[in-house]
Amino acid sequence: MEREDPTLRRERRLILALIGTSMGFATLSALLVAKDLIPKPSQTPDKLPPQVGDILVCATGHKEGAPIDPGRLPLGGPFVLAYPMDRKTRVIRNGDAKSTPLVVHLDPASLVPEVRQHAVGGVVVYSAVCTHLGCIVSLWHPQKQLAQCPCHGGEYDLAQDRVVAGPPPRPLPLLPVRQEGGVLVVAGPFTGPVGVV
Ligand code: FES
Repeated sequence: MEREDPTLRRERRLILALIGTSMGFATLSALLVAKDLIPKPSQTPDKLPPQVGDILVCATGHKEGAPIDPGRLPLGGPFVLAYPMDRKTRVIRNGDAKSTPLVVHLDPASLVPEVRQHAVGGVVVYSAVCTHLGCIVSLWHPQKQLAQCPCHGGEYDLAQDRVVAGPPPRPLPLLPVRQEGGVLVVAGPFTGPVGVV
């Protein structure tokens, strides 16, 4: 039987290896191109952050979905969790936890100017997403008049816009609001980044 020249055998292996590599790259490129061609899911209205003109509605409890009447919020807390709602389509923006604000009624005289300028009287709205690791700030300490995060004990002074205890690295961003009729309306975007940055 005729023996194959070792040089020819090496060259043939090299050519086959090159063909295989080329096909691998071609397949990978095709996959990447195809991935880019797949339409990305568009952001649905319920996942958008609060939009200027949105109405704030109750996020929980028996009034869930009802517009928040600032005149009926108890002075001195507790706060209520809210969602923004598109006033035309009635879509409630509850598809992304980062859109969750909290609404509290405090003594207007206790507010620092940076808070007062975005409030309606003593009614102040903040992001409810803790700046430590993103839990929802859901507790209210009536004696201390502080909002508390249940995860690691972060405490926020909502009148002074500052962290007073725990690991949160910065205060909650404010959500500017105005009053129209008996409802709270979003007047601007959050004053800073929401949650963990
Ligand atoms: S997530 Fe709020 S204190 Fe850690």
